[in-house]
Amino acid sequence: TSHHDFINKLPKAELHLHIEGSLEPELMFALAQRNKVTLPYASVEEIRTAYNFTDLQSFLDLYYAGAAVLLTEQDFYDLTMAYVQRALADSVRHVELFFDPQTHTARGVSTETVFAGIARALRQARQEHGFSSSMILCFLRHLSEEDAVETLKLALPLREQYADLWNGVGLDSAEVDNPPEKFSKVFAQARELGFHLVAHAGEEGPPAYIHSALDVLQVERIDHGVRAEEDPALMQKLAKTQMPLTVCPLSNLKLCVVDDLSEHNLARMLRAGLCVTINSDDPAYFGGYMNANFIASADALDLSRVELVQLAKNGFCASFAAPEQKQLWL
Ligand code: ADE
Ligand code: ZN
Repeated sequence: TSHHDFINKLPKAELHLHIEGSLEPELMFALAQRNKVTLPYASVEEIRTAYNFTDLQSFLDLYYAGAAVLLTEQDFYDLTMAYVQRALADSVRHVELFFDPQTHTARGVSTETVFAGIARALRQARQEHGFSSSMILCFLRHLSEEDAVETLKLALPLREQYADLWNGVGLDSAEVDNPPEKFSKVFAQARELGFHLVAHAGEEGPPAYIHSALDVLQVERIDHGVRAEEDPALMQKLAKTQMPLTVCPLSNLKLCVVDDLSEHNLARMLRAGLCVTINSDDPAYFGGYMNANFIASADALDLSRVELVQLAKNGFCASFAAPEQKQLWL
Protein backbone atom coordinates (compact mmCIF):
# COMPACT_ATOMS: atom_id res chain seq x y z
CA THR A 1 0.00 0.00 0.00
CA SER A 2 0.99 3.66 -0.18
CA HIS A 3 1.47 3.64 3.61
CA HIS A 4 4.08 0.89 3.20
CA ASP A 5 5.65 2.73 0.29
CA PHE A 6 5.88 5.84 2.45
CA ILE A 7 7.65 3.81 5.18
CA ASN A 8 10.03 2.14 2.73
CA LYS A 9 11.25 5.50 1.44
CA LEU A 10 11.36 7.30 4.79
CA PRO A 11 15.02 8.11 5.65
CA LYS A 12 16.01 6.24 8.81
CA ALA A 13 18.81 5.88 11.36
CA GLU A 14 19.43 2.54 13.03
CA LEU A 15 20.78 2.75 16.59
CA HIS A 16 20.37 -0.84 17.78
CA LEU A 17 21.88 -3.38 15.42
CA HIS A 18 24.17 -6.23 16.46
CA ILE A 19 26.28 -6.96 13.42
CA GLU A 20 26.61 -10.62 14.48
CA GLY A 21 22.80 -10.71 14.50
CA SER A 22 22.70 -9.75 10.81
CA LEU A 23 24.34 -13.05 9.82
CA GLU A 24 21.82 -14.59 7.42
CA PRO A 25 21.64 -18.41 7.25
CA GLU A 26 22.95 -18.35 3.64
CA LEU A 27 26.10 -16.47 4.63
CA MET A 28 26.48 -18.58 7.78
CA PHE A 29 26.43 -21.68 5.60
CA ALA A 30 28.84 -20.23 3.03
CA LEU A 31 31.33 -19.09 5.69
CA ALA A 32 31.15 -22.46 7.45
CA GLN A 33 32.20 -24.13 4.19
CA ARG A 34 34.87 -21.52 3.40
CA ASN A 35 36.38 -21.84 6.89
CA LYS A 36 35.76 -25.58 7.31
CA VAL A 37 33.74 -24.97 10.46
CA THR A 38 31.14 -27.61 11.30
CA LEU A 39 27.64 -26.26 11.96
CA PRO A 40 24.98 -28.27 13.80
CA TYR A 41 22.73 -27.85 10.73
CA ALA A 42 22.56 -29.76 7.43
CA SER A 43 21.00 -26.95 5.39
CA VAL A 44 19.96 -23.30 5.29
CA GLU A 45 16.34 -24.43 5.75
CA GLU A 46 17.32 -26.32 8.89
CA ILE A 47 18.92 -23.16 10.31
CA ARG A 48 15.76 -21.14 9.70
CA THR A 49 13.57 -23.83 11.29
CA ALA A 50 15.75 -23.72 14.41
CA TYR A 51 14.85 -20.05 14.96
CA ASN A 52 11.95 -20.62 17.30
CA PHE A 53 12.81 -18.75 20.44
CA THR A 54 11.12 -18.77 23.83
CA ASP A 55 13.21 -16.10 25.53
CA LEU A 56 16.46 -14.11 25.19
CA GLN A 57 18.72 -17.00 26.28
CA SER A 58 17.24 -19.45 23.75
CA PHE A 59 18.20 -16.94 21.05
CA LEU A 60 21.64 -16.12 22.47
CA ASP A 61 22.60 -19.82 22.40
CA LEU A 62 22.07 -19.94 18.61
CA TYR A 63 23.49 -16.44 18.04
CA TYR A 64 26.82 -17.36 19.68
CA ALA A 65 26.88 -20.74 17.90
CA GLY A 66 26.27 -19.04 14.54
CA ALA A 67 29.02 -16.47 15.14
CA ALA A 68 31.52 -19.37 15.25
CA VAL A 69 31.79 -19.22 11.44
CA LEU A 70 33.33 -15.72 11.61
CA LEU A 71 37.11 -16.12 11.58
CA THR A 72 38.87 -13.79 9.15
CA GLU A 73 38.91 -10.09 8.36
CA GLN A 74 37.14 -10.93 5.09
CA ASP A 75 34.36 -12.70 7.03
CA PHE A 76 33.67 -9.57 9.09
CA TYR A 77 33.82 -7.46 5.93
CA ASP A 78 31.35 -9.74 4.11
CA LEU A 79 29.02 -9.77 7.12
CA THR A 80 29.06 -5.98 7.42
CA MET A 81 28.74 -5.36 3.68
CA ALA A 82 25.70 -7.65 3.54
CA TYR A 83 24.10 -5.59 6.32
CA VAL A 84 24.94 -2.32 4.56
CA GLN A 85 23.21 -3.53 1.38
CA ARG A 86 20.05 -4.37 3.34
CA ALA A 87 20.20 -1.03 5.17
CA LEU A 88 20.59 0.94 1.93
CA ALA A 89 17.60 -0.90 0.45
CA ASP A 90 15.59 0.15 3.53
CA SER A 91 16.48 3.87 3.20
CA VAL A 92 18.74 3.69 6.28
CA ARG A 93 21.16 6.63 6.12
CA HIS A 94 23.03 6.10 9.39
CA VAL A 95 23.85 3.13 11.63
CA GLU A 96 25.49 2.89 15.04
CA LEU A 97 26.55 -0.72 14.84
CA PHE A 98 27.07 -2.93 17.91
CA PHE A 99 29.77 -5.57 17.89
CA ASP A 100 30.80 -8.09 20.55
CA PRO A 101 34.60 -8.63 20.59
CA GLN A 102 34.37 -11.21 23.38
CA THR A 103 32.31 -13.53 21.16
CA HIS A 104 35.32 -13.65 18.85
CA THR A 105 38.38 -13.30 21.07
CA ALA A 106 37.10 -16.33 23.05
CA ARG A 107 37.56 -18.33 19.80
CA GLY A 108 41.05 -17.00 19.10
CA VAL A 109 39.97 -14.27 16.66
CA SER A 110 41.83 -11.06 17.44
CA THR A 111 40.20 -7.74 18.27
CA GLU A 112 42.14 -6.28 15.30
CA THR A 113 40.56 -8.73 12.86
CA VAL A 114 37.07 -7.81 14.04
CA PHE A 115 37.69 -4.05 13.83
CA ALA A 116 39.46 -4.26 10.48
CA GLY A 117 36.74 -6.22 8.66
CA ILE A 118 33.82 -4.16 9.97
CA ALA A 119 35.63 -0.86 9.41
CA ARG A 120 36.67 -1.70 5.83
CA ALA A 121 33.03 -2.28 4.89
CA LEU A 122 31.74 0.83 6.69
CA ARG A 123 34.42 3.06 5.14
CA GLN A 124 33.67 1.70 1.68
CA ALA A 125 29.94 2.30 2.23
CA ARG A 126 30.69 5.86 3.29
CA GLN A 127 32.81 6.43 0.17
CA GLU A 128 30.50 4.78 -2.33
CA HIS A 129 27.06 5.58 -0.92
CA GLY A 130 27.51 8.40 1.61
CA PHE A 131 26.33 5.86 4.20
CA SER A 132 27.05 7.25 7.67
CA SER A 133 28.06 4.96 10.53
CA SER A 134 29.80 4.43 13.83
CA MET A 135 30.80 1.41 15.91
CA ILE A 136 29.78 0.68 19.50
CA LEU A 137 31.84 -1.98 21.28
CA CYS A 138 29.57 -4.04 23.54
CA PHE A 139 30.57 -5.97 26.64
CA LEU A 140 28.91 -9.33 27.27
CA ARG A 141 27.17 -9.01 30.61
CA HIS A 142 27.08 -12.77 31.35
CA LEU A 143 30.89 -12.55 31.64
CA SER A 144 32.78 -10.82 34.46
CA GLU A 145 33.61 -7.15 34.72
CA GLU A 146 37.32 -8.10 34.69
CA ASP A 147 36.74 -9.68 31.28
CA ALA A 148 35.10 -6.45 30.08
CA VAL A 149 38.04 -4.40 31.40
CA GLU A 150 40.42 -6.70 29.51
CA THR A 151 38.32 -6.35 26.35
CA LEU A 152 38.49 -2.56 26.53
CA LYS A 153 42.23 -2.74 27.19
CA LEU A 154 42.77 -4.90 24.09
CA ALA A 155 40.75 -2.48 21.95
CA LEU A 156 42.24 0.81 23.16
CA PRO A 157 45.44 0.57 21.08
CA LEU A 158 43.15 0.58 18.01
CA ARG A 159 41.32 3.72 19.02
CA GLU A 160 43.31 6.14 16.89
CA GLN A 161 43.25 3.91 13.82
CA TYR A 162 39.46 3.68 14.05
CA ALA A 163 38.75 7.15 15.42
CA ASP A 164 36.42 7.86 12.48
CA LEU A 165 34.16 4.98 13.56
CA TRP A 166 34.53 3.74 17.13
CA ASN A 167 32.83 6.21 19.44
CA GLY A 168 30.93 4.22 22.05
CA VAL A 169 30.62 1.25 24.36
CA GLY A 170 27.52 -0.76 25.22
CA LEU A 171 26.28 -3.70 27.28
CA ASP A 172 24.42 -6.72 25.92
CA SER A 173 23.76 -10.49 26.32
CA ALA A 174 21.85 -12.19 29.17
CA GLU A 175 20.21 -9.40 31.17
CA VAL A 176 18.49 -11.04 34.13
CA ASP A 177 20.87 -11.48 37.10
CA ASN A 178 23.50 -9.36 35.33
CA PRO A 179 22.49 -5.83 36.39
CA PRO A 180 24.17 -2.74 34.93
CA GLU A 181 25.97 -1.97 38.21
CA LYS A 182 28.06 -5.14 37.71
CA PHE A 183 29.89 -3.03 35.08
CA SER A 184 30.18 0.27 36.94
CA LYS A 185 34.00 0.39 36.88
CA VAL A 186 34.49 -0.36 33.19
CA PHE A 187 31.76 2.12 32.23
CA ALA A 188 33.39 4.78 34.45
CA GLN A 189 36.65 4.12 32.64
CA ALA A 190 35.01 4.35 29.22
CA ARG A 191 33.30 7.58 30.27
CA GLU A 192 36.62 9.10 31.35
CA LEU A 193 38.06 8.09 27.98
CA GLY A 194 35.30 10.08 26.26
CA PHE A 195 33.24 7.26 24.79
CA HIS A 196 29.50 7.48 24.34
CA LEU A 197 27.67 5.04 26.60
CA VAL A 198 24.62 2.84 26.01
CA ALA A 199 23.27 -0.31 27.67
CA HIS A 200 20.54 -2.88 27.13
CA ALA A 201 18.11 -2.50 30.03
CA GLY A 202 14.46 -3.36 30.60
CA GLU A 203 14.26 -5.93 27.79
CA GLU A 204 13.76 -8.93 30.12
CA GLY A 205 15.15 -7.23 33.22
CA PRO A 206 13.15 -5.08 35.67
CA PRO A 207 12.75 -1.28 35.62
CA ALA A 208 15.39 -1.15 38.39
CA TYR A 209 17.97 -2.08 35.73
CA ILE A 210 16.93 0.97 33.66
CA HIS A 211 17.39 3.12 36.75
CA SER A 212 20.89 1.75 37.38
CA ALA A 213 21.89 2.02 33.71
CA LEU A 214 20.99 5.73 33.96
CA ASP A 215 22.20 6.52 37.47
CA VAL A 216 25.20 4.21 37.85
CA LEU A 217 26.48 3.70 34.30
CA GLN A 218 25.27 7.15 33.16
CA VAL A 219 24.27 5.92 29.72
CA GLU A 220 23.00 8.30 27.03
CA ARG A 221 20.46 5.88 25.56
CA ILE A 222 18.59 2.82 26.80
CA ASP A 223 18.53 -0.18 24.47
CA HIS A 224 15.00 -1.69 24.58
CA GLY A 225 13.68 -0.17 27.84
CA VAL A 226 10.20 -1.54 27.20
CA ARG A 227 9.72 -2.63 30.83
CA ALA A 228 9.93 1.05 31.89
CA GLU A 229 6.15 1.09 31.57
CA GLU A 230 5.88 -0.86 34.85
CA ASP A 231 7.33 2.15 36.71
CA PRO A 232 5.29 5.37 36.25
CA ALA A 233 7.94 7.56 37.91
CA LEU A 234 10.55 6.18 35.52
CA MET A 235 8.25 6.86 32.57
CA GLN A 236 7.96 10.49 33.70
CA LYS A 237 11.73 10.77 34.03
CA LEU A 238 12.32 9.27 30.55
CA ALA A 239 9.80 11.68 29.03
CA LYS A 240 11.15 14.70 30.86
CA THR A 241 14.80 14.01 30.01
CA GLN A 242 13.94 12.81 26.48
CA MET A 243 16.17 9.81 27.13
CA PRO A 244 16.12 7.81 23.89
CA LEU A 245 14.87 4.22 23.91
CA THR A 246 16.06 2.00 21.06
CA VAL A 247 13.02 -0.25 20.76
CA CYS A 248 13.11 -3.41 18.62
CA PRO A 249 9.54 -4.57 17.92
CA LEU A 250 10.16 -7.79 15.94
CA SER A 251 12.88 -8.79 18.42
CA ASN A 252 10.45 -8.35 21.32
CA LEU A 253 7.91 -10.48 19.45
CA LYS A 254 10.36 -13.30 18.58
CA LEU A 255 11.84 -13.40 22.09
CA CYS A 256 8.36 -13.47 23.66
CA VAL A 257 8.79 -10.13 25.43
CA VAL A 258 5.31 -9.49 23.98
CA ASP A 259 2.81 -12.15 22.85
CA ASP A 260 1.50 -10.06 19.98
CA LEU A 261 2.71 -6.86 18.32
CA SER A 262 -0.71 -5.30 18.89
CA GLU A 263 0.15 -5.41 22.61
CA HIS A 264 3.51 -3.69 22.16
CA ASN A 265 3.93 -0.51 24.21
CA LEU A 266 5.94 1.31 21.52
CA ALA A 267 2.95 3.45 20.49
CA ARG A 268 1.86 4.08 24.10
CA MET A 269 5.36 5.24 25.03
CA LEU A 270 5.61 7.43 21.93
CA ARG A 271 2.20 8.96 22.68
CA ALA A 272 3.30 9.54 26.29
CA GLY A 273 6.06 11.77 24.90
CA LEU A 274 9.07 9.45 25.23
CA CYS A 275 11.88 9.57 22.67
CA VAL A 276 11.17 6.17 21.09
CA THR A 277 13.11 4.83 18.10
CA ILE A 278 12.53 1.69 15.98
CA ASN A 279 15.43 -0.69 15.30
CA SER A 280 16.02 -4.25 14.07
CA ASP A 281 18.37 -5.68 16.80
CA ASP A 282 19.29 -9.03 15.16
CA PRO A 283 17.47 -8.90 11.82
CA ALA A 284 18.68 -12.25 10.47
CA TYR A 285 17.21 -14.01 13.51
CA PHE A 286 14.04 -12.00 14.11
CA GLY A 287 12.56 -11.86 10.64
CA GLY A 288 13.25 -8.41 9.37
CA TYR A 289 15.35 -5.32 8.85
CA MET A 290 14.31 -1.71 9.46
CA ASN A 291 11.41 -1.48 7.03
CA ALA A 292 9.92 -4.75 8.24
CA ASN A 293 10.06 -3.43 11.83
CA PHE A 294 8.44 -0.13 10.84
CA ILE A 295 5.73 -1.80 8.73
CA ALA A 296 4.87 -4.49 11.30
CA SER A 297 4.62 -1.80 14.00
CA ALA A 298 2.58 0.56 11.83
CA ASP A 299 0.13 -2.21 10.93
CA ALA A 300 -0.22 -3.60 14.47
CA LEU A 301 -0.39 -0.25 16.26
CA ASP A 302 -2.08 2.01 13.70
CA LEU A 303 0.82 4.43 13.56
CA SER A 304 -0.02 7.61 11.65
CA ARG A 305 2.32 9.22 9.12
CA VAL A 306 3.05 11.95 11.64
CA GLU A 307 4.04 9.28 14.20
CA LEU A 308 6.15 7.38 11.66
CA VAL A 309 8.02 10.57 10.77
CA GLN A 310 8.51 11.27 14.50
CA LEU A 311 9.93 7.77 15.05
CA ALA A 312 12.34 8.17 12.14
CA LYS A 313 13.37 11.67 13.26
CA ASN A 314 13.95 10.41 16.79
CA GLY A 315 16.53 7.98 15.38
CA PHE A 316 18.59 10.78 13.83
CA CYS A 317 18.07 13.05 16.83
CA ALA A 318 19.16 10.35 19.33
CA SER A 319 22.23 9.41 17.29
CA PHE A 320 25.79 10.30 18.28
CA ALA A 321 26.40 12.01 14.93
CA ALA A 322 27.87 15.52 14.95
CA PRO A 323 25.34 18.38 15.35
CA GLU A 324 26.14 19.70 11.84
CA GLN A 325 25.38 16.27 10.40
CA LYS A 326 22.12 16.01 12.38
CA GLN A 327 21.02 19.39 11.03
CA LEU A 328 21.38 18.07 7.50
CA TRP A 329 19.10 15.13 8.34
CA LEU A 330 16.46 16.81 10.47
N1 ADE B 1 22.77 -9.62 21.88
C1 ADE B 1 22.26 -9.58 20.65
N2 ADE B 1 20.97 -9.22 20.69
C2 ADE B 1 20.65 -8.99 21.99
C3 ADE B 1 19.49 -8.58 22.67
N3 ADE B 1 18.35 -8.32 22.04
N4 ADE B 1 19.53 -8.49 24.00
C4 ADE B 1 20.66 -8.77 24.64
N5 ADE B 1 21.78 -9.16 24.06
C5 ADE B 1 21.79 -9.26 22.73
ZN1 ZN C 1 20.12 -5.82 21.27
